[in-house]
Amino acid sequence: MIRVAINGYGTIGKRVADAVAAQPDMKVVGVSKTRPSHEAYVAKQRGYPLYIADLAKKGDFERAGIPVAGDVEDMLKAADIVVDATPGGVGKKNRALYEKHGVKAIWQGGEDHEVAGFSFNSDCNFPDAVNRSFTRVVSCNTTGLCRIIKAMDREFGVKNVRAVMVRRGGDPGDIKRGPIDAVVLNPVTIPSHHGPDVQTVLPHVNIVTLAMIVPVTMMHMHVVQMDLEKTPTREQVIQIIERHPRMGLVRKSTGITSTAELKEYAMDLGRARSDLWENGIFEESVSVIGNELYLFQAIHQEADVVVENIDAIRAMTGTVTDAAKSIEMTNKALGFTPI
Ligand SMILES: NC(=O)c1ccc[n+]([C@@H]2O[C@H](COP(=O)([O-])OP(=O)(O)OC[C@H]3O[C@@H](n4cnc5c(N)ncnc54)[C@H](OP(=O)(O)O)[C@@H]3O)[C@@H](O)[C@H]2O)c1
Repeated sequence: MIRVAINGYGTIGKRVADAVAAQPDMKVVGVSKTRPSHEAYVAKQRGYPLYIADLAKKGDFERAGIPVAGDVEDMLKAADIVVDATPGGVGKKNRALYEKHGVKAIWQGGEDHEVAGFSFNSDCNFPDAVNRSFTRVVSCNTTGLCRIIKAMDREFGVKNVRAVMVRRGGDPGDIKRGPIDAVVLNPVTIPSHHGPDVQTVLPHVNIVTLAMIVPVTMMHMHVVQMDLEKTPTREQVIQIIERHPRMGLVRKSTGITSTAELKEYAMDLGRARSDLWENGIFEESVSVIGNELYLFQAIHQEADVVVENIDAIRAMTGTVTDAAKSIEMTNKALGFTPI
């Protein structure tokens, strides 16, 4: 069993912990928090040993009825690999600690590529992650872009990508962020950072991205356009999406034309936390005009990177060296069913 620690038990960390616990070849040796919030109660209920960043706060947790197993260094001593899901910018400060304990580490997209020197997406560069000590799983938006670009590049060759990201303002449980009533160009300059971030995984891809933030919480929406080397039929593109283990076709017959309905659908399907781990690509939007492909895809920001973390764990520990096998194991353990 691969012993996995999760440093930072928030939006991403709690999902990674549950996904690890669901895998047949991994176990959660601990999760960490800085304060006794509701997530600490859930960790206790799930039976995950809880570690804290600062042992001086141990009394706060114990008074709240939450046992503390030790500090983050104690947690690292029990682990083969740590998934750092602390807030963006905090993770890089932890690198020295991981090196000190000789623990492999995975960071999230809130950190720069340089934190690990290697950025990961299961379908794009799994073999390059095998036996690595440090890896960064790219952000939710970059993950969604990498999946669709790689799938089209493999079959038709991608000349250029132009993509607009309509980003959620905050996560559903996040009361600190906005906007409340605005469309914020983020950034107002072009390109946004997402294109260069895709190039950390797919360096040969010519991509320009634009981004804005809107007052919603459930999902991001991408407007994607690609110029392809070969001209596909619309049916060929749809078949590729249907067969892809991390992309889901939002069928015309469902009548779904929004992120709200898509999340409701995921909830009705019985997905844990109504999570959509796959890109939600709207069937009706898939259009081929000459050698140009157009589509809309919805990205569940809280979920799509979770499955990528699981595959990165297998690659980095060298326990599975084939991407397709790991992706299949991950999806099966989570009960992935087609949307
Ligand atoms: N949310 C998304 O949509 C999303 C999507 C893709 C990638 N990401 C990336 O994933 C990473 C985590 O984001 P998130 O949204 O999950 O953040 P989050 O919800 O704020 O959770 C962060 C967690 O880290 C804990 N923490 C804070 N400081 C810590 C420290 N010094 N040591 C240990 N734990 C600490 C927090 O615990 P306390 O609450 O106890 O302080 C909290 O449990 C970021 O890099 C982010 O950019 C986020």
